Amino acid sequence: MTWLITGGAGFIGSHVVRAMAEGGERIVVLDDLSTGRAERLPEGVPLEVGTVLDRAVVDRVLREHAVTGIVHIAGKKQVAESVAKPLHYYRENVEGLRTLLEGAVEAGVTRFLFSSSAAVYGMPDVDLVTEATPCAPINPYGETKLAGEWLVTAAGRTHGMATASLRYFNVAGAATPELGDDGVFNLVPMVFERLTADEQPRIFGDDYPTPDGTCIRDYIHVEDIASAHVAAARRLAADPAASLILNIGRGEGVSVTEMVGIIQDVTGRTDIKPLVTERRPGDPARVVASADRIREELDWSARYGVREMVESAWAGWRLRHP
Ligand SMILES: NC(=O)c1ccc[n+]([C@@H]2O[C@H](COP(=O)([O-])OP(=O)(O)OC[C@H]3O[C@@H](n4cnc5c(N)ncnc54)[C@H](O)[C@@H]3O)[C@@H](O)[C@H]2O)c1
Repeated sequence: MTWLITGGAGFIGSHVVRAMAEGGERIVVLDDLSTGRAERLPEGVPLEVGTVLDRAVVDRVLREHAVTGIVHIAGKKQVAESVAKPLHYYRENVEGLRTLLEGAVEAGVTRFLFSSSAAVYGMPDVDLVTEATPCAPINPYGETKLAGEWLVTAAGRTHGMATASLRYFNVAGAATPELGDDGVFNLVPMVFERLTADEQPRIFGDDYPTPDGTCIRDYIHVEDIASAHVAAARRLAADPAASLILNIGRGEGVSVTEMVGIIQDVTGRTDIKPLVTERRPGDPARVVASADRIREELDWSARYGVREMVESAWAGWRLRHP
């Protein structure tokens, strides 16, 4: 098979490219480099610069590289920006996907993997979020991911494509410092930013109904995300009728206070006391994956722990902020 990986020059995409290439898959990347960097790609992996919204580009890339499967990772991912620019998010994440799917169906692509998110669940009121937990996104970003899953599943069913939507939980870490996340939108880089500026890391609310009062999340190493893609791609290759929706998480919750403590420890900045501020609107108290289905379906489970995520992310941060 030849796989097209969209968004392969981004944070998660570059890890998936690396893992799939090491797994012996033939790969081509389509990326508009809006947030990605070409130097993230390993030597020998062809990069086509363009947007998934451009049907002519999609058609040409699928044809010229004789693509048989697609891993669609390209997308916009910032919740606050999605609230400010919902039409932009629907265009990029839904219209972009629809255009790509249309090209895929016409080109006879038979395997399709889609980057979804735990954001589809919104504010789940359960201990462990299973794939059967109702989806109720609370921002346009989460809505575009849920609509994306519907598009993928419907197109797969009607046009004979094996599909998988992978719902990532809180992604952190890096395989190498060069591949680290450039953005400062998640807890780990946000705390790095404060600590390296000699400022107190912020904890948004300590009055949640959790043991230490701070929000609990399921952090997952980006290398584990990548190995889950390799397993899912193999499953789709072997099972032309697959139609999967899978959480990718560790199934273990870590509170913000615990996470900030680990980050302070790893960075050697235990001298700065965190600052508790007001809750942010739309932050659920607890979002932890049940990782049962992915273990049963793909025989996959996470290998890395939280400390390894923070240490590898810190090496990347220091490279980019010497
Ligand atoms: N990072 C997370 O914690 C997380 C969690 C859940 C889901 N996701 C999803 O994973 C995917 C990748 O996230 P990331 O963290 O690697 O973000 P990223 O911004 O690093 O990567 C996105 C990549 O897609 C490219 N891209 C964006 N729009 C494009 C378009 N229209 N055509 C072609 N390429 C385009 C960008 O240049 C970039 O290389 C996104 O779909 C995101 O919604 C991320």
